[in-house]
Amino acid sequence: DWNSGNVIAEQVALIQAQVGTGKVICGLSGGVDSAVAAALVHKAIGDQLVCVFVDHGLLREDERRQVEEDYVKATGIRLVTVDVREQFISALAGVSDPETKRKIIGREFIRTFEQAQAELIKEAAEIDGDPIRFLVQGTLYPDVVESGGGSGTANIKSHHNVGGLPEDLQFELVEPLRALFKDEVRAIGAELGLPAEIVQRQPFPGPGLGIRIVGVVTQERLDLLRQADAIVRAELTAAGLDREIWQCPVVLLADVRSVGVQGDGRTYGHPIVLRPVSSEDAMTADWTRLPYDLLAKISNRITNEVDGVNRVVLDVTSKPPGTIEWE
Ligand code: XMP
Repeated sequence: DWNSGNVIAEQVALIQAQVGTGKVICGLSGGVDSAVAAALVHKAIGDQLVCVFVDHGLLREDERRQVEEDYVKATGIRLVTVDVREQFISALAGVSDPETKRKIIGREFIRTFEQAQAELIKEAAEIDGDPIRFLVQGTLYPDVVESGGGSGTANIKSHHNVGGLPEDLQFELVEPLRALFKDEVRAIGAELGLPAEIVQRQPFPGPGLGIRIVGVVTQERLDLLRQADAIVRAELTAAGLDREIWQCPVVLLADVRSVGVQGDGRTYGHPIVLRPVSSEDAMTADWTRLPYDLLAKISNRITNEVDGVNRVVLDVTSKPPGTIEWE
């Protein structure tokens, strides 16, 4: 019989056995997986853990503040923020292939951690000189299966937190959520006393807005997509649908333009795709039948408020055959 208290006790013991007195680093993405994984590790080994939050510029509106303020307040975890927005934009310049984007983002992530580690070692050396040897990952069971690490299933997408790790990785991985499904992770987060805002947060991919721009990632496109995404999230929350919807990717079709008429003139703008899905574990999903009035409101707001967007379309594909993300 599954019980979050038992899983926590078991994982705490396993983490303590694996890590001993070693130092551990964890990247917080802003999502529930890394937040719960870090909180578990913190419960097991306290301040041997330091968390790093990478602001790679592919984040959604307000995400950085939520991690830096709300999560830190709730957990007491040591947090360092690294601002590498420019580094990621240059690394992604000219790249439109989804798997290449994922690999670049995964690689830059690890490089950023290694740089952060180097700086943290300097700091730690003043105390006891013991380097950081372990890296916490919020890998879930479905990630393991879909990346071919489980029951021999073929690799569908190289999720950056499992399949996309570079070979020169210097860390030993700590993956306390590897046997768990999402709802179990949320139960553990609640049991650990994390704020509901974080525990109930919908999934958001590690590569962030970078894989929600179909086409090349640019600063201008990121800003546009971030604005549209914020509108969608605000309206879904206002409609009380956060728990009913598994997640709602908002996708910018950067290479597509269509003719519109806005104000006095003809426009030639980009479409935004809404991809609301209902799911239990992201392995399969159905498109969520959102109320028409809500769709109308979202569409009006996006086309009125987001410069360069003149059309909003709804993705009515289940998974399979479509994946949840467009890339
Ligand atoms: P797909 O698009 O494969 O997505 O149906 C399944 C779930 O995984 C999330 N996702 C990712 N998460 N790194 C992540 O951490 C990734 O590269 C990645 N790609 C997809 C997606 O948002 C959905 O919840």
